[in-house]
Amino acid sequence: MNHQPVEGFSKKTKNDKVDWLVNTYLSGNQEFKNILTQYWNDDKDLQKLHDEFSENTISNFYMPYGIAPNFLIDGKLLALPMAVEESSVVAAASKAAKFWLDKGGFKTTIINTEKLGHTHFILNVEPHKLLHFFNFKLKKKLLESTEAITANMRNRGGGILDIKLIDKTAELKNYFQLKASFNTVDSMGANFINSCLEQFGKTLKEEVANDVDFSQEEKDSLQIVMNILSNFTPDCIVRAEVSCKIVDLKDDSGISNEEFAWKFKQAVTIAEIEPYRATTHNKGIMNGVDAVVIATGNDFRATEACAHAYASKDGKYSSLTHCTTDNGIFRFWIDLPISVGVVGGLTNLHPLVKFSMALLGKPSAQELMSILAVSGLAQNFGALRSLVTTGIQKGHMKMHLFNILNQMGATEDEKQHFVTYFKDKTVSHHEVIAELNRLRTE
Ligand code: MEV
Repeated sequence: MNHQPVEGFSKKTKNDKVDWLVNTYLSGNQEFKNILTQYWNDDKDLQKLHDEFSENTISNFYMPYGIAPNFLIDGKLLALPMAVEESSVVAAASKAAKFWLDKGGFKTTIINTEKLGHTHFILNVEPHKLLHFFNFKLKKKLLESTEAITANMRNRGGGILDIKLIDKTAELKNYFQLKASFNTVDSMGANFINSCLEQFGKTLKEEVANDVDFSQEEKDSLQIVMNILSNFTPDCIVRAEVSCKIVDLKDDSGISNEEFAWKFKQAVTIAEIEPYRATTHNKGIMNGVDAVVIATGNDFRATEACAHAYASKDGKYSSLTHCTTDNGIFRFWIDLPISVGVVGGLTNLHPLVKFSMALLGKPSAQELMSILAVSGLAQNFGALRSLVTTGIQKGHMKMHLFNILNQMGATEDEKQHFVTYFKDKTVSHHEVIAELNRLRTE
């Protein structure tokens, strides 16, 4: 296939975009057009709202929106909204929530809520001279020049917390940073932070240019490379935990309480010391976190990036969760760095996000942080519980059964047959195909 580049694609109507795509890449096959158009919503306003979330929208991409009930979090009983396509995630969360329901539920603590951003710049100057300029002149100007931008945020109790000059010249010639910390209250704050930082870049340029203590050569060497928030927020962190007596740690797989606690702790320790396992372990945690992040209209790429950077903070990729089994008490917790908002972004626009927020009792950003950490911890508990007892495939394949049957075009009667057939057996792809063939040839 060797196609010509398209001019003005974004200016075409939605119909024209679809026709162009189908004609150019799909041999004009109208079945492909139907695949796209069948998802268009009849409610024109609702469709327009979704179209306008992004650029060049040609259809809607459905994702299951499920509910994991029975989450007791800091004494409140919540039903968590989860947008996720992986079949076993909601089931695992629900099961873990139920397990901890009669054991006091999940407890959370907000450890800090500080967000960060940087102005990255190059300046050929003696670091001490720059530090003096920063402390006695620039810092005040940076704060003054952003007063208009920060006014609303300050009224809401947030704003710029501090600005520091960081000398990075040992790592890159003439490289310095203005490192700013922010409190963005109930918003994720990306636009607010980036606006402040871009103003810092401008102010820095002006102040260096007008300062008599810098030589012309030094002034000419200044390059503002970029101004951008950091998605790594190690000081925006929430702890979620569960604990109970080991004697109360009853698992229904037949394993003893002590063996369960021991194996579970071993599994966490393995993830703490072994990056191969830690990656999968943390992926499972993020199954729970991201599903709620998406359902509440937040940015799952940001939460993923932050979680994995934090998992490497000590120089080696490790587990986000931890476990102790001291003095007969099983304790399992997560420290999750996560920056989310409950105002701004999609939160007031997407109808399902509005629903999620209402369902969660209109949480503050801090309450949402707690809910997300709990969702991640619960997911990890569910995964490890299966892994150290029955193995993951039993539950996973049970949930996946309908995907396999749908792929095979199974009828409702056939599906019912399979539910009974696999009641006390582990589902496997091979077994489903064999049984379906047997059924159909009968
Ligand atoms: C699958 O999406 C996630 C798990 O692999 C997580 C884990 O192994 O802990 C089950």
